[in-house]
Amino acid sequence: AALSQDQLKTLVGQAALQYVVPGEIVGVGTGSTVNKFIDALASMKDQIKGAVSSSVASTERLLALGIKVFDANEVDALSVYIDGADEIDGKGNMVKGGGAALTREKIVAALSKQFVCIADESKLVTTLGKFPLPVEVIPMATKRVIAQFVARGGSAKVRLKDGQPLVTDNGQHIVDVTGLQITDPLAFEAEISQWPGVVTVGVFAYQRAQVCLLGTASGVKTLT
Ligand code: A5P
Repeated sequence: AALSQDQLKTLVGQAALQYVVPGEIVGVGTGSTVNKFIDALASMKDQIKGAVSSSVASTERLLALGIKVFDANEVDALSVYIDGADEIDGKGNMVKGGGAALTREKIVAALSKQFVCIADESKLVTTLGKFPLPVEVIPMATKRVIAQFVARGGSAKVRLKDGQPLVTDNGQHIVDVTGLQITDPLAFEAEISQWPGVVTVGVFAYQRAQVCLLGTASGVKTLT
């Protein structure tokens, strides 16, 4: 029988273990695919020093499995960061932030020498932009940022949770943008990152993935 999306996530989560360096601290992302990786990492917990986490949710999961969590300021650099994506193109550029954790994810990715993306094949795209692009924004700037995206031909709205603006781990809001074709991810990331009030844009081009472990019907494919 065909593997379910959940089974594909388990496969790539387990496959990511081979990139974890014994004796070191590993960077850990956020999301349902990373949760599979964290569960698999428990089998290696006595071989690693611990993890730097990109969200409160991942920290809680790591701690519950007995994996030590370090603050990002306690490390100089990490060999590897393992995280999922909402979209990834053939060059390793990604859209992230569907789980609202993009800012800490980008920080841990920047600390890391290698980004290993784990994803099921539904995430692979030719051009980024179909998945609503998450942008973390300081609340007083959301109206202007939305207007700026509309002026570019997109549409945008503040992400809600239970009818109220969702508040991130960093106390900010998320604007989700649709209707853009992100043909030059590096230039797009550079430009939007400079808009006043933008904390983090969910395009990861500067911090793109060097490796993608893609879960497909015929097994895990490694894209580099
Ligand atoms: C979290 O903010 C996101 O960047 C996640 O990495 C992304 O949403 C992938 O999540 P899933 O593995 O649940 O699809």
